[in-house]
Amino acid sequence: MYKNIKAAVVGSINMDIILSAQKLPEVGENVLGTTYGYSHGGKGANQATALVRLGANVKMIGKVATDDNGKALVENLKSNGIDASGVATDGSATGLAAILIDGEGRNRIIVYEGANAEIVPQTAVDSISDDISLLLVQFETNEEAVISTVNYAVQKGITVVVDCGPAKNFALEKMQGATILSPNESETKALTGVLPEDENSILEASKILFERSKAKYIVLKLGERGCSVWDGEKLTLLPAYKSNVVDTTAAGDCFTAAMALEYVRTGDVYSSCNLGNKAGAIAVSRIGAAESMPNVEEIRLFA
Ligand code: RIB
Repeated sequence: MYKNIKAAVVGSINMDIILSAQKLPEVGENVLGTTYGYSHGGKGANQATALVRLGANVKMIGKVATDDNGKALVENLKSNGIDASGVATDGSATGLAAILIDGEGRNRIIVYEGANAEIVPQTAVDSISDDISLLLVQFETNEEAVISTVNYAVQKGITVVVDCGPAKNFALEKMQGATILSPNESETKALTGVLPEDENSILEASKILFERSKAKYIVLKLGERGCSVWDGEKLTLLPAYKSNVVDTTAAGDCFTAAMALEYVRTGDVYSSCNLGNKAGAIAVSRIGAAESMPNVEEIRLFA
């Protein structure tokens, strides 16, 4: 379905350490955990994995170090069929994320950016070949790399999808005209000052983002409420699918990748968001980041 689509992801590559506990500790409190494990993560690598599992041809552009985590992460990208030739290995330390999951599957994440923040903007731009039809970026690398690659791809007529995670007030004005700009609830608050908690605030935040970014569509990821689309004239809410939630980590990455790929295939943002909702619902029913991404058949059989 997506095998003719060639995508590039400029983004983060992290080793995730995941610890779960029924109740997460308060300040100064010590609690016993129930499980722990390591997972291949980073918003960029998760989105690249989601794209390749759905059948696209994917090039990862980023940076790690030559430490054990860096080697394992690059090997994992390759074993998933991702072209890792755009991943530089001369970073100071590979990115690391500590992910705490509570009994309801909700997470809290601390990310040490390391090499992710050291991507050289021009090198990243030079890694975007002419046959790319989709560029996916997030905010977990340095701002200059995101701005340079987005502006380059927009000017080349490539479909550009910007996932606005993690939450920060990014300089959207320096990166104009992406195809889809997609923050979650906390990222929307960080970018606009407005928490999208009801239809009025969803509309207000979407309008601010539309004005600041000049993106064609604003897609807010609203967690268990699904997502919204603002096209400059009309607000559409698309409800989430029911799921047995065990770990919400990387569900947004999964949503963004599936939505982006379907948009390149169809040009229809609404059906693309619906597919993203299905993919996200599958991801939250599994533990882990990149490992929780579904394939096309799993999405087809869902709901
Ligand atoms: O979006 C989930 C990701 O955020 C995790 O894999 C972790 O690495 C952090 O970057």
